Amino acid sequence: MRCRKARLCDAGEIHALMQPHVLQGLLLPRSLSYLCENIRDFTVIEDASGRVVASGALHFFDEDMAELQSLAVLSNCQGVGLGRTLVRALLREARRHRVWKVFSLTHAPDFFLRQGFVLTDIAQLPRKFMRDCITCPKLRHCHQTAVICDVFTARPSRPAQPGQEAEALSRPALASA
Ligand SMILES: CC(C)(COP(=O)(O)OP(=O)(O)OC[C@H]1O[C@@H](n2cnc3c(N)ncnc32)[C@H](O)[C@@H]1OP(=O)(O)O)[C@@H](O)C(=O)NCCC(=O)NCCS
Repeated sequence: MRCRKARLCDAGEIHALMQPHVLQGLLLPRSLSYLCENIRDFTVIEDASGRVVASGALHFFDEDMAELQSLAVLSNCQGVGLGRTLVRALLREARRHRVWKVFSLTHAPDFFLRQGFVLTDIAQLPRKFMRDCITCPKLRHCHQTAVICDVFTARPSRPAQPGQEAEALSRPALASA
């Protein structure tokens, strides 16, 4: 298995991978054109034959906050750590960009709690609410839970193996002037 940034040619496979979860109401639908336009947000895991078996996106939200979106693992590859690997890769990416907070709206909050996220309330994310939720057809019957993680202090419930998490978790020094 190899975890890497997505390429434009992965968009079709990511779309197909997400589709069963979209039909179950677990993920928001994303059109193929949306995926092409936003492919640089995505990280994928491919198996030995190069097939994309998991994908997820880090979508920058404002100067220091990003949203983890569209996390999907192929049904018959779930439960072997691919979701955890993706979240760690996306949090590493957030750290590289000096993003301080990563949030997600999810039907699987317990999974995120195991990765170092904590529960929050959409009221704590007013810009997300005003930008996306307010126009969402599911606004009145949304069953998603908001979770958030402080990128530089979050500790997953199962720590990475030595060498797995190369980057230091310390906060970057604030630029002085
Ligand atoms: C949720 C999902 C991404 C998890 O991926 P996965 O590869 O199966 O998860 P992992 O094997 O990496 O599991 C990591 C840990 O989380 C736990 N876990 C996995 N899915 C879980 C869930 N739905 N609820 C609670 N815990 C979960 C695992 O037991 C494991 O625990 P451990 O640390 O004790 O070993 C995957 O099941 C999926 O694609 N679901 C459908 C789409 C979806 O709901 N996406 C999330 C919303 S954005």
